[in-house]
Amino acid sequence: MINKYLSIGIFCPLFVLNIQAEEGMWQLSQLPDLNLEKIGFEISAGDIYSPDKLSISTAIVWLGGCSASFVSADGLVLTNHHCAYGSLQRNSAKDSIDYIDEGFLAKDRSEELPAIGQHAYVLKSMADVTDVILKSVKGIEALTEKEKRIEQKITAMEKEAENDREDRYCYIATNYNGKQYVKYLFNKYQDVRIVFAPPAAIGNYGGDIDNWMWPRHTGDFTYLRVYQAPDGSGAKYSDDNIPLKPGNYLKIAKTDLKDGDMTFILGYPGRTMRYRSSYSVDWNLNRTYIPRIERFQSILDIITEMSNENQEAKLKLASYDAGLNNTMKNFQGNVDGMQSSNFIENKRAFEADLMSFINSKRKLKKMYGDVMEKIAAQYAILEQSYDYDQVLENFGGYTIGVLYNLGSKAYDVARERAKPETDRRPEFSEKRVKDGMANLDYAYLRFYEPFDKTMLTRALQQAAKLPEEQRITALDFILKGSMEIDAWVDDAFAKTGLKDIAYVKDLYNKTPEEIEALNDPLIDLAIKLYDAKDRKYEEGKVWNAQIQDLRKKYIDALYAWKGQSLYPDANSTMRFTFGKVKGYKPADGIWYEPFTTLKGVVEKDTGEEPFNNPAKLTELSRSKDYGKWIDPELGDVPSCFLAECDITGGNSGSAVMNAKGELIGLAFDGNYEAMTSDWLYNPELQRTIVVDIRYVLFITDKFAGADYLLKEMGI
Ligand code: ARG
Repeated sequence: MINKYLSIGIFCPLFVLNIQAEEGMWQLSQLPDLNLEKIGFEISAGDIYSPDKLSISTAIVWLGGCSASFVSADGLVLTNHHCAYGSLQRNSAKDSIDYIDEGFLAKDRSEELPAIGQHAYVLKSMADVTDVILKSVKGIEALTEKEKRIEQKITAMEKEAENDREDRYCYIATNYNGKQYVKYLFNKYQDVRIVFAPPAAIGNYGGDIDNWMWPRHTGDFTYLRVYQAPDGSGAKYSDDNIPLKPGNYLKIAKTDLKDGDMTFILGYPGRTMRYRSSYSVDWNLNRTYIPRIERFQSILDIITEMSNENQEAKLKLASYDAGLNNTMKNFQGNVDGMQSSNFIENKRAFEADLMSFINSKRKLKKMYGDVMEKIAAQYAILEQSYDYDQVLENFGGYTIGVLYNLGSKAYDVARERAKPETDRRPEFSEKRVKDGMANLDYAYLRFYEPFDKTMLTRALQQAAKLPEEQRITALDFILKGSMEIDAWVDDAFAKTGLKDIAYVKDLYNKTPEEIEALNDPLIDLAIKLYDAKDRKYEEGKVWNAQIQDLRKKYIDALYAWKGQSLYPDANSTMRFTFGKVKGYKPADGIWYEPFTTLKGVVEKDTGEEPFNNPAKLTELSRSKDYGKWIDPELGDVPSCFLAECDITGGNSGSAVMNAKGELIGLAFDGNYEAMTSDWLYNPELQRTIVVDIRYVLFITDKFAGADYLLKEMGI
């Protein structure tokens, strides 16, 4: 069969033959090109993915942000502890029991806890829809208009595929900046339950100190179970629901794992920037990573102070705290890595070579000769309003607190609903709005009023610091008003109705005018800022359309030069990556072994968080009560291991398998020395950190005594 990719031009499979390094997050449709048998696989590409028969990929689950896999015929799922962290946090806030610190074990199915806010997605089908999408914009030259139409087409196609079913989810992914579009259709299961989460002293052992680091000793796993309605639909939580019978589930490896063994991963990597220019790197380093590290740290300081000896604050802010710490350390790793490796200079030198090749061929010069200057010009646009944009951005998302977001979201929805359906922003389609409304029920599980107020005060104070000519005039009513900022915030929080969920829900029945007439001070703030944000959004659309087109040209130029097979940047779609179990050299004179053991877990114990190893685990180690989970070569229970696989955020919880396709562990992290890997794969340094399945089972068996789970997994 003629490869579909040939028609697009850059994916000629002939070139795939020379892949050496274990680089790449490959689309499942690219599997046949990878010659797996030749590199040590004992299963075929078709065993991993087939469009028309059950394969390993059928057992892979997306958790919306994390990855997971089925491990039993009754819908039992394994993922990371840090992936279930958010639902553990919400349950903790609801029950005032610290499930994060204490862990949770259901003794039987009736005790399983609804994983608040967690959905599970199982891929039903995928199809290349490039032709359909591009045909729909044929003849349209203006870039912004074209992108807008493509977006509308995508939204319409997704809606059609979902067919108004709450338990369907369709996602049309854009690959290679718009050279390819792939439609993914999922069954969406809304009843997911927590089965077993170890205490944080195992599941998050080493905490933020060990995070992103090797050697590692974290038992970063949690068992969930997916439920369905008796009629097979992915209904919301109900007592009548029954465990899902998945199409396929993974078998646990029966043989030992050794240094040098082949491994592979199927999961949902979120985002990489492997084909970006030096301008993009420069912008991200200096305008994203560096300033955000400071911003995150200042928010973390507030959280730490508030959570100190205040259990309510601790339970409510726990997942926010973990998320900020995690991203901050990643950004710091990027900064360290980029600065120490002369990343930008190297990239510039690479681009100079690229351009001298392009400019040496008349035809190529005509097509791509000006691509670098044009990209530079795009980033110069961002630079002009940088300070203003930063401050405006604070009024939304993680920097502004729960109440403001609730009001502002409801108002945005009202404004969008006032437009014709086809003109609405994709994230405000009626279906997405309904999904959002379903989440309102647990909106306050992360609401801690003193923190919320502090965040709003902070955002306003930063706005007050903008130079006069760059100020956000919509905020004049506060910043040039008679009240001090703190006093205004106190007053607004006293008067707002947003602390009442019925009031918030009712906003969704109102027109913009009706919301405006409420005179709710927190919502009024959002209303005042609406135009400024809307303008930014529209400017962003224009900017994106331009940069998308230039990035496409940049990739084309690269291809014209190197002629290599490419995998698309990660975009939260299922990908395959492979590589061997292997250590690495973090610095001169040091070699890191690829396995850690239970002995090492105990050695790190200080008795204090995050190295407060449970006494029972220490005792199991001391008495060598390893059960069947001992590794003969290590003479101990393995804890974590390293593999060359190429992953990024979103892959967390992914099944790691051996050459036979059996489960050997769960991917949960990357190593600090390779933090720039989202930009560039480095075969010498980049490793995936995996919790060994034998550690997972050892904890399940010997620590928790949950042998019914082992039985369920066929052990
Ligand atoms: N670094 C991991 C990832 O991004 C998350 C680890 C979470 N643990 C933590 N201590 N914050 O996938």
